[in-house]
Amino acid sequence: MTTGEVELRRGLKDVYLDRTEVSFIDGQLGKLLYRGYNIHDLAEHCSFEEVISLLLYGKLPTKDQLNQTLSFCASNRAVPAPVLQIVEMVKQAHPMDVLRTAVSALSAFDPAVEDNSLDALRHKGMRVTGQAATIVAAHFRIRRGLTPVAPHPTLNHAANFLYMLYGKEPDPDEARLMDVDFILHAEHSSNASAFAARVTASTLSDLHSAIVTGIGTLKGPLHGGAAESVMKMALEIGKPANAERYVKELLDSGGRVMGFGHRVYKAEDPRATHLRERARRLGEKRGHPEWYLILENVEKAMEPYRRRGIYPNVDFYAGAIYHLLAIPEDLFVPIFTLGRIPGWTVQVLEQLEHNVIIRPLLQYVGPMDLPFVPLEERG
Ligand code: CMC
Repeated sequence: MTTGEVELRRGLKDVYLDRTEVSFIDGQLGKLLYRGYNIHDLAEHCSFEEVISLLLYGKLPTKDQLNQTLSFCASNRAVPAPVLQIVEMVKQAHPMDVLRTAVSALSAFDPAVEDNSLDALRHKGMRVTGQAATIVAAHFRIRRGLTPVAPHPTLNHAANFLYMLYGKEPDPDEARLMDVDFILHAEHSSNASAFAARVTASTLSDLHSAIVTGIGTLKGPLHGGAAESVMKMALEIGKPANAERYVKELLDSGGRVMGFGHRVYKAEDPRATHLRERARRLGEKRGHPEWYLILENVEKAMEPYRRRGIYPNVDFYAGAIYHLLAIPEDLFVPIFTLGRIPGWTVQVLEQLEHNVIIRPLLQYVGPMDLPFVPLEERG
């Protein structure tokens, strides 16, 4: 350790941590690939389970392999009763805090908790993905005084999540919308929560711990929590005509427009492209085009910021979609989590493939070698 000159990269900006074969981001072009496949193709043509299989096994699945993933996921969604009791006990907390607590508790019931073999990690990743949806939906119902709905035996992750929220099979278009939303959120290289999950895994801790780390990190408004802040902003704006003035006042007072900007993308986030169009169509279908129009006007007011590489990110239109699906704002970041657990899992797999403990340095700039003062002499 030195107290002399060092190269400091605050926030680890532009620092490469390792190599990856999972996702590629070209921030200048606004391009995102999972395992070499363009996110636009995956969002148009795949299901979330296909993407889980692609991420965890490295290849697009055959029909048989996809059926195996679907059936493994569908039969591993149940949550042990004591974990639901914990949800009941902490039900007044933010759903993200409830989810973090409950996923931590799941480890007590997972027979493979300490097994870090490749297959055990894949299976635990898929199991926790499904169980997390059961926890979020159970909490949604418990805090409304309703009985949780048991997972559906055959529906996919997205349709089953909506089914467990509302207790009825969802409209197929809306289930597909949620499916695409999960695909778009599934993986994003070394973002803050995936990096945090890797740090935990690098100590040879277990996958549940890494996922709990990821949940705690994703919650913040500079990361996954932004979708919740975007919808709060849209509600405050109230109508499309108010958007321009609202944005100006926010920026003039030094605030940030949530759902804009990205550490890597300096062009349009390709995930926002899909969500924008889907938010527009859902608003029309549900007879509430105003949320889309408010966000569209915020986007127009932010146009001058494009010169500085500040564009809408994945969180900007996601909130409007969830709102139109009658999902409360504090569930937005848990929903991001339900899509992202496979991403954290594959990052942990890669970290463990050639592990080295992640332990960077901090440059010490405090005082040195102070004379010790006994307690009774301190004034
Ligand atoms: N509104 C207004 N100005 C902004 C915004 C914004 N949303 N984002 C960045 N800027 C400005 C910022 O003020 C700074 O200006 P200056 O150079 O004059 O000080 C400049 O752009 C660079 O910003 P930064 O904070 O140094 O950039 P960063 O790479 O450290 O931060 C970010 C990236 C995502 C934290 C930031 O853009 C932000 O706070 N955005 C709003 C929160 C948000 O939408 N988060 C979701 C990110 S995408 C989903 C996810 O991965 O979680």
